Amino acid sequence: MKQIKIAPSILAADFRRLADDIRRVEDAGADLIHIDIMDAHFVPNLSMGPGIIESVRSVTKLHFDVHLMMDNPQRYLHQFKEAGADGITVHMEIFPDPDEVLDEIGTLRMARGLSLNPDMPIRRLSGRLAKVDRLLVMCVFPGFGGQSFIPESLSRIREARDLLDVEGRVLTELEVDGGVSVKNAAAIREAGADLLVGGTAIFGASNARETIRLLRGH
Ligand code: DX5
Ligand code: ZN
Repeated sequence: MKQIKIAPSILAADFRRLADDIRRVEDAGADLIHIDIMDAHFVPNLSMGPGIIESVRSVTKLHFDVHLMMDNPQRYLHQFKEAGADGITVHMEIFPDPDEVLDEIGTLRMARGLSLNPDMPIRRLSGRLAKVDRLLVMCVFPGFGGQSFIPESLSRIREARDLLDVEGRVLTELEVDGGVSVKNAAAIREAGADLLVGGTAIFGASNARETIRLLRGH
C-alpha cells in the first residue's frame, strides 16, 4: 500500500499559539506543514508572509510546503527560501508556462509545486509536468479555509493522476487541497492522491492523531 502523506494547513491553526499547534500536529503524525500565503489580489483574502514562516521555523524539522496564492510570486521566492520554505507551489493561473519559475524554485533547492484552480482544465498541464515535484489540485476556489469540497474535483484528481502516470516524473506527488475531510478522504485517495492537505479537518478536530490516521486511511 502506498504511504499517503498528510499536510495540516496552519491557516486553520490558533495563531495565539501557533508554535504549540504545529508541535501538536507533528506529534499527531503530520508529514509536512502546509502554509497558505494569500495576497488579497490573486485571492480575496490576506493571510501571512515570510515573517510568520521564519518565526516558526525552529519549532519543527517538518517540510514547510508553501502554497503561494499571490500575483507576483517570483519576486518573493528568495524571501520565502530564507524564511525556511522547503517547497514552493505557484499557480498556473499566474504562470500558464511555468518552466522558468519552476527552474528558479529548483535552483533555490526547494521542491517545485504547480497548482491549478477548480476551473482550470487538467489537460492544460499536458507538456508542462517535466519540472514539477508536486502537483496541487485545488478542490475549492482558493482564498479561505473551511469551504466545502467541490464534488467534480474527484474526476479532476483522477485525470491528473492519469496524466502524471504518463507524463510526470516518478517522484512527482499529487497533492489535494481544499475541503478535505474524514468523510471524503477515502474517495480522494482512491482517485490517486499522494498527499492530502487538511486545515479545518485537522485543527478543528478534538483528536488530531485520530483524524490524521483516518485521512491517511491506515
Ligand atoms: C485554500 C487553501 C487551503 C486551505 C485548506 O485557499 O489553499 O490550503 O487552507 O483549508 P480546509 O482544509 O479547511 O479547506
Ligand atoms: Zn493551500
